[in-house]
Amino acid sequence: MQTEAVPNLNIADLEQKVKNMYREVALRPHEKYHFEMGRTLAEKLGYDPKQLDQIPREAIESFAGVGFFFDYASIKEGDKVLDLGSGSGMDSFIATLKVGKTGSVTGVDMTDEQLQKAEQLSMQYGFTNASFQKGYIERLPFDDNSFDVVISNGVINLCPDKAKIFNEVFRVLKPGGHMAIADIVSEKNLPDNVVCDATLWASCIGGAAQEDEYADAIKNAGLDIIGVINNDRYAFISLSAQSASKKYGVKSVSLLAEKKIQALVHLFVPGLACANLTPAIKHAMKDLQPGQVLEVISDDFSSREGVPAWCRLTGNKLLREIDETEDKTIFYIQKKN
Ligand SMILES: C[S@@+](CC[C@H](N)C(=O)[O-])C[C@H]1O[C@@H](n2cnc3c(N)ncnc32)[C@H](O)[C@@H]1O
Repeated sequence: MQTEAVPNLNIADLEQKVKNMYREVALRPHEKYHFEMGRTLAEKLGYDPKQLDQIPREAIESFAGVGFFFDYASIKEGDKVLDLGSGSGMDSFIATLKVGKTGSVTGVDMTDEQLQKAEQLSMQYGFTNASFQKGYIERLPFDDNSFDVVISNGVINLCPDKAKIFNEVFRVLKPGGHMAIADIVSEKNLPDNVVCDATLWASCIGGAAQEDEYADAIKNAGLDIIGVINNDRYAFISLSAQSASKKYGVKSVSLLAEKKIQALVHLFVPGLACANLTPAIKHAMKDLQPGQVLEVISDDFSSREGVPAWCRLTGNKLLREIDETEDKTIFYIQKKN
């Protein structure tokens, strides 16, 4: 865990309390906690029961998320997905249903018992496209530009240095990739006696950042916020949490943010057939330095085969293809080194 961002908080104590809490969540999901859990919570938040039926029951029992974001996440077949603070793996397993055999989902968590449970379930139930790694989300053990989608549920509020996490998300996301998360924020700044209480942190209250500051940390990392919605179905159940929620506007939100691709040159010639488009792309690429990006807009359906094939042939990298309408396609092509 990171140490700088909240001066009066005992970070070592907080990390231990968070680990203790979520070890219990993994091992004894049917005990009483300060927060709702399990399948009842998941269905209440908006998870599709048919999808829940396709993933390990034990992962659902230990689900301790705070919102639903999969409509925002729009995960596609073949995507590489990273789940920050994956817990016992419920969201990771849901994501595997969407990425299919050609994609992969990687969960990261710092609590051994959560990690072991998720790993064991993935083996037991044959989720070969899911893997789980021990790590801190403030320093992710992954290369730059390696994931299409980053997801996270009820985790970032537990971490003192949120800016550091969003910087890491920006680093590991591919250009054009996005982050879809659910988390706890507050409308007003929380007073010191709430912020410095490690037990309230571990229950997803004390670490709730003021919502504008939370959004600024995301924007300062370089991500563009596309949308935020309140998860009104999430309720705090302990009295202290309910009172903080009422007094300071502590609430659950789902948020979508994107790592925008910065294209230097744009190419759009309406009506241009794919056969003539690829020579035009070749010509436009001459103006770019290696690593710079060309945006190509095409209204010829056959470009959906032609442009990726041209990129493979020439070694230039197709960063992203957006099939906007039935005919219109946007390609982002990065010039090879
Ligand atoms: C509220 S639980 C949510 C787990 C899971 N996302 C879910 O929805 O059930 C928070 C999880 O985040 C993990 N966590 C908290 N802080 C972390 C950090 N700095 N690095 C990695 N994992 C962390 C905890 O171990 C715990 O498993």
